[in-house]
Amino acid sequence: MFQKNISLKPYNTFGIEAYAESFVSVTSLTQLQNIISKNKEVFILSGGSNILLTKNISKPVVHLNLKGVEILESPNPNEVFVKAQAGENWHEFVLWCIANNFGGLENLSLIPGNVGTSPMQNIGAYGVEIKDTFYELEALEITTGKIKNFKKEDCNFGYRESVFKNIFRGKYIIINVTFQLTKNQHKLNTSYGAIQTELKNNGIANPTIKNVSNAVIAIRQSKLPNPKEIGNSGSFFKNPVISTEHFKILKKEYPEIPHYPITKKTVKVPAGWLVEQCGFKGKRFGDAGVHKNQALVLVNYGNATGKEIFELAQKILQTVNNTFDIDLEIEVNMV
Ligand code: EPU
Repeated sequence: MFQKNISLKPYNTFGIEAYAESFVSVTSLTQLQNIISKNKEVFILSGGSNILLTKNISKPVVHLNLKGVEILESPNPNEVFVKAQAGENWHEFVLWCIANNFGGLENLSLIPGNVGTSPMQNIGAYGVEIKDTFYELEALEITTGKIKNFKKEDCNFGYRESVFKNIFRGKYIIINVTFQLTKNQHKLNTSYGAIQTELKNNGIANPTIKNVSNAVIAIRQSKLPNPKEIGNSGSFFKNPVISTEHFKILKKEYPEIPHYPITKKTVKVPAGWLVEQCGFKGKRFGDAGVHKNQALVLVNYGNATGKEIFELAQKILQTVNNTFDIDLEIEVNMV
């Protein structure tokens, strides 16, 4: 069942060469439960879109390949519940929802990764986060092998955060996620500037969910590297939240600094802007680099090691700290 010494390069979107001492791809819940009951510690690998592998993995690697999408009726005639298994590719799932005229996920088009990991960091883009349409999920508790149900309030979703990244880190394997979507009277979210501009440029005044999805796809393609062409893991850093006092000091020196008020006392600033100001945008160090269109994204031009990417990240963290007195936080899971 387990294969020995398998390269994980095809299984992580950074395209980093690292090896699994043993590896299995699971396609059923029973198979997963069986493996969990026999192996005390496992390394769960899903879409591999939010990890940086800096070493080989000695724990048994379990690739989650559970597939299937189910439509469940809702008591509300304008709504539908859609339950997707963890191993479904996120973007294909979003396109499937749009093809069925189920609304709510269109702004999250083209995000790399799988359905099962989407709630871990509450994926978000263009004014929408997964928590906005999340209904519930089922997860396997690793120590007991039992299936537990988590409703929205159990997940404690925040900006790129959930209980699965914090108190329950490594304790559960998400096996399926149910979304509450609209069947008609879709609530479109086109307030994000770039979406409006894209729709306008295409002469679309009354957009459908498909139009919004296409706009998001076009924006992402223009800014973000396709992991199939250049290895990457999306945003490498989180956008930091700083105090308004700190922000006022920065604004004096950098009047053009982009910012979003969060509370009366805090302001979010884009990490991409900070990294660009430090001169890293488009820079390349061997095969590790900073993307030319979005400084928040670190890239592997081919044969970078996880360590090389990590060293570049450290250099960026240090320079941003020296320049702006801001400690950026890494968003990607380091292994
Ligand atoms: N900016 C720069 N230089 C750059 C990048 C950005 O000056 O190199 C400035 C832009 O001009 C703009 C601001 O920063 O004023 C924000 O840029 P953008 O709209 O591209 O969004 P972001 O804050 O950099 C976040 C998410 C992305 C998501 C976009 C759109 C995080 C960490 N990242 O990026 O998420 O697609 O908003 O909603 O919150 C991901 O998580 O992998 C990801 C790509």
